[in-house]
Amino acid sequence: MPQITIAKPDDWHLHLRDGEMLKAVLPHSTRWAGRAIIMPNLVPPVVTAADAAAYRDRILDALPGQDNFTPLMMLYLTEQTEPNDVVAAAQAGIITGVKLYPAGATTNSASGVRDMDKVMPVLSAMAEAGIPLMVHGEVVDQEIDIFDREAVFIERVLHPLREKLPELRITFEHITTSQAVEYVRASEANLGATITPHHLVINRNAILAGGIKPHYYCLPVAKRETHRQALLEAALSGDRRFFLGTDSAPHTEPNKLQACGCAGIFNAPNTIEILAQIFDDAGKLSLLEGFVSRHGPNWYGLPVSDETIILEKQPQAVTFESEIMTGEGPVAVFDPMLDIFWKILS
Ligand code: NCD
Ligand code: ZN
Repeated sequence: MPQITIAKPDDWHLHLRDGEMLKAVLPHSTRWAGRAIIMPNLVPPVVTAADAAAYRDRILDALPGQDNFTPLMMLYLTEQTEPNDVVAAAQAGIITGVKLYPAGATTNSASGVRDMDKVMPVLSAMAEAGIPLMVHGEVVDQEIDIFDREAVFIERVLHPLREKLPELRITFEHITTSQAVEYVRASEANLGATITPHHLVINRNAILAGGIKPHYYCLPVAKRETHRQALLEAALSGDRRFFLGTDSAPHTEPNKLQACGCAGIFNAPNTIEILAQIFDDAGKLSLLEGFVSRHGPNWYGLPVSDETIILEKQPQAVTFESEIMTGEGPVAVFDPMLDIFWKILS
């Protein structure tokens, strides 16, 4: 059976939550990822170096058996964040970057930024110290159509910020539009982007056609098919500015399945298998390792893993559990609605 061996992948955008949820979801990531950037949108958010260090310790305590996994911590940027604290946290090796959530843009983002001018001193200090900024790239203006919020963010926030602080390294996270792909491609330096497996697989029909499907609802929301095609082209191009961030974001079934359900897709249990299938279907398996294991470390100035994983193509489609049980309730696993033949040999 066909096999490929690749450097161990990393996840450059992951929600692990805390407590019982953390314990239940963590093994699904450490099964394949050597490192992950851990999103700080807990309640309350991870805003100080002490919060980040304590959260890192809780993750390490929850690690299954001998799994070798490094959580890369982030600070959640607020209008009160002090430049010196961020620089000190980075210099002490506690954090890898800082996360910008426009206030109200997504799950647990209420403490995020309303006025970019208020965070310019922190961002300048980060630019000077070489600390990257990860951005949730959506405007929150109620007048802007939800399907346009990423494209408008580029014009109104991201581009002006990059003009003001060209030295700031920015990761444009979980991009969902052709505008974002084009904007990253056109940039000369200091801009990278993560892409999720689900945005490579679904368009907005998955959420809305034939009944409303909350399990395909996440933010940024999936767009029309032309945008998915642009994302696929970016991921399959070998361009080192594009790399994997799963945005695996578990919510319990009661929290998903209600009149105002939570945004987030839990894909850690099948991310690598889905990506192997996508790259295989495109005849680009040789570029999979770049996207999942090499471009990310290169972007963050870290070594590529010296461990490897082996993927094997099965004669029959493989199956995944449809949900996992956690101490907080069941969490549905992303169903890519396509046949996956790849599996990770352990
Ligand atoms: C994330 C979550 O649930 O924390 N949800 C999502 O839809 N992606 C937050 C985020 O990354 O936007
Ligand atoms: Zn996220």
